[in-house]
Amino acid sequence: MIVREEFSLKKYNTFGIEAIARFFAEINSAEDVREICTDKQFVKADKLILGGGSNILFTKDFDGIVIKNNFRGIDISSENAEHVFVKVGAGENWHSFVLHCIENNYAGVENLSLIPGNVGASPMQNIGAYGVEIKDVFHELEALEIATGEMMKFSAADCNFGYRESVFKNKCRNQFIITSVTFRLNKTPKYNVSYGAIEQELEKMGVKELSIAAISKAVCNIRSSKLPDPKQIGNAGSFFKNPVVPQELYEKIIKEFPNVVAYPSAGEVKLAAGWLIEQCGWKGYRKNDFGVHINQALVLVNYGEASGDELYNLSQEVMDSVQKKFGVSLEREVNIV
Ligand code: FAD
Ligand code: EPU
Repeated sequence: MIVREEFSLKKYNTFGIEAIARFFAEINSAEDVREICTDKQFVKADKLILGGGSNILFTKDFDGIVIKNNFRGIDISSENAEHVFVKVGAGENWHSFVLHCIENNYAGVENLSLIPGNVGASPMQNIGAYGVEIKDVFHELEALEIATGEMMKFSAADCNFGYRESVFKNKCRNQFIITSVTFRLNKTPKYNVSYGAIEQELEKMGVKELSIAAISKAVCNIRSSKLPDPKQIGNAGSFFKNPVVPQELYEKIIKEFPNVVAYPSAGEVKLAAGWLIEQCGWKGYRKNDFGVHINQALVLVNYGEASGDELYNLSQEVMDSVQKKFGVSLEREVNIV
């Protein structure tokens, strides 16, 4: 294992922000992790686990060791009449794994097509899109405890999944390196096309018979038309979560803003943060190289040489304006370092 010093992270985050890691190591095995965790130089150093860097904003250099997780492998661990259990290394690319499932007719992740990043980060915020979250297909994961080097298993209940939430984003933050995730996939698909524009897109594509491949393609088409490609414009997807507010606050908002975009959410109401931000006038905003995407106000963007601080400060201004206009607190989805 090679440990690099004073390493640029610019190519390792989809915002394309320049930040320097004091140390940087790519790990391929549990042995590599144990080597880092017991090395005198690194034992006390701050550690940051990095996957594809698609949900992270660096606001400063990292004065510790960045551990890039490259664990590989996609293997069937068991199966029964209904399900196939597929164990995937944390360093596998998420969308490549989805394509592998489609090729092999394993159903359940097709709605999650084209989400950037790696499999190891997928439980971190319980990734979700188009009516599906990974909690719906999650079986278990393995993670190494950094403090002890011990390998542990987490069930879905242990992960405490919520909307863009898990135990790894909260109580266990920075304490575990997720090394593999096992998914419970369906041999017979249960299609989920009720969300957003999927049905419309399938119709446009001329699809007569539903299949997981067709749904995946439809989702890819919709996503490509809405979200900026990080290869063209730096971004980390939705910068904020969609806020969930009590019914009373929603009723107050809808009285004044009858067009507010909202969905029921377990007795409360989820508001479309993109709509709230657009109403505050931010959509398409640009200053120097930082701004708010022209087609999706929930996405903050780096047009070239923006700094993490500039984007962070912009996110604060956006949050303040939404609070002032609607009395709603936005929460950042992106991990700030
Ligand atoms: P990173 O950004 O590298 O890391 C994210 C967090 O997880 C960090 O805190 C990191 O320390 C931690 N982490 C990473 N790997 C591990 C590990 N192995 N063990 C422990 N901790 C780890 N997300 C959605 O949910 N739905 C979407 O539809 C969606 N669309 C997106 C569209 C675009 C264009 C972009 C750029 C992002 C989008 N995202 C979406 C966000 C992002 O793709 C996901 O959060 C993804 O899971 C992040 O994976 P990553 O490997 O890049 O994680
Ligand atoms: N809207 C606006 N203006 C905007 C953007 C959105 O008015 O600028 C309104 C529109 O009415 C639209 C609604 O908001 O119909 C919802 O927008 P969209 O379908 O684009 O979805 P979203 O709520 O903005 C969420 C996730 C995405 C996920 C999509 C599809 C969060 C924080 N974001 O976005 O996830 O891909 O739904 O399921 O929940 C991510 O987490 O990074 C991410 C991209």
